[in-house]
Amino acid sequence: MPTAKGARESAPVDASDGELPFYVNTGNEVALFAAAHERCVPVLLKGPTGCGKTRFVHHMAAKLGLPLVTVPCHDDLTAADLVGRHLIRGGETVWVDGPLTRAARQGAICYLDEVIEARKDTIVVIHSLSDDRRTLYVERLGEEIRAPASFMLVMSFNPGYQGPLKSLKPSTRQRFVGIDLTWPEPEDEERVLCHETGIDATTAHRLVRLARKIRPLKEQGLEEIPGTRTLVHAANLIRAGVDPAEAAVASLGVPLTEEPELIHTIRTLAQMSFPEGRQ
Ligand SMILES: Nc1ncnc2c1ncn2[C@@H]1O[C@H](COP(=O)(O)OP(=O)(O)OP(=O)(O)O)[C@@H](O)[C@H]1O
Ligand SMILES: [Mg+2]
Repeated sequence: MPTAKGARESAPVDASDGELPFYVNTGNEVALFAAAHERCVPVLLKGPTGCGKTRFVHHMAAKLGLPLVTVPCHDDLTAADLVGRHLIRGGETVWVDGPLTRAARQGAICYLDEVIEARKDTIVVIHSLSDDRRTLYVERLGEEIRAPASFMLVMSFNPGYQGPLKSLKPSTRQRFVGIDLTWPEPEDEERVLCHETGIDATTAHRLVRLARKIRPLKEQGLEEIPGTRTLVHAANLIRAGVDPAEAAVASLGVPLTEEPELIHTIRTLAQMSFPEGRQ
């Protein structure tokens, strides 16, 4: 079956614990998500970039044994991209379901990533699926799809990164329960680094401690706070033989600011964290 522009699909995964995508809880998000799924309530995930939103959705889809359909949202996304359209194939006109329609038919999790990037009038198309009707009317087919109980809508965004024109309609927001995600506690963030990169526990500990020193630089104008993803990058560079302080500056400093003074401060902190240089 062809997929609509940009949508990604993953197969259902056997829900035995060993096969779940690795995810470290930062609070009660697993229980909240499972309860929302059980009661057919859609979920809005909020949290800074690199805090684990996408990983969490993959983890939960596998845990619940459901297929996952991911839609990366952008401002050109149309309702037809979500619902489907007629296409010409071999001289014939065929209907192709969009990711929302496909997920509703399959009883999958439909994950609208960075939903805030889509236009509000596009997102309205999810309304009938995200309230007690749980139906999608496909006008072009004259068909009403009733979503099975397993179907779930999940959307995510990074609060604070969008401009003043970007927001969600109250009527969209209020259809969802919200889960706030944040960075894992230090010991858990160290576990993430060790698991994701195979780095040793001591280096993971130092990297996490360094990140905890850099994050408060927001007060001094650091626009982007280094997330767990940036620490994973630093750990990967170190694993590849890069000097730890250099790896830290390249991952937690250079991509996040253009301010030479802030980079200098981050470099100094990194050198203090790894005084002995290459290990
Ligand atoms: N709680 C966590 N458990 C396991 N891994 C994590 C966790 N948080 C972050 N990671 C690691 O950080 C990486 C980035 O996480 P992820 O892609 O899920 O972030 P995100 O919140 O979706 O970011 P964005 O908003 O930029 O899409 C993951 O690939 C994983 O290696
Ligand atoms: Mg993501």
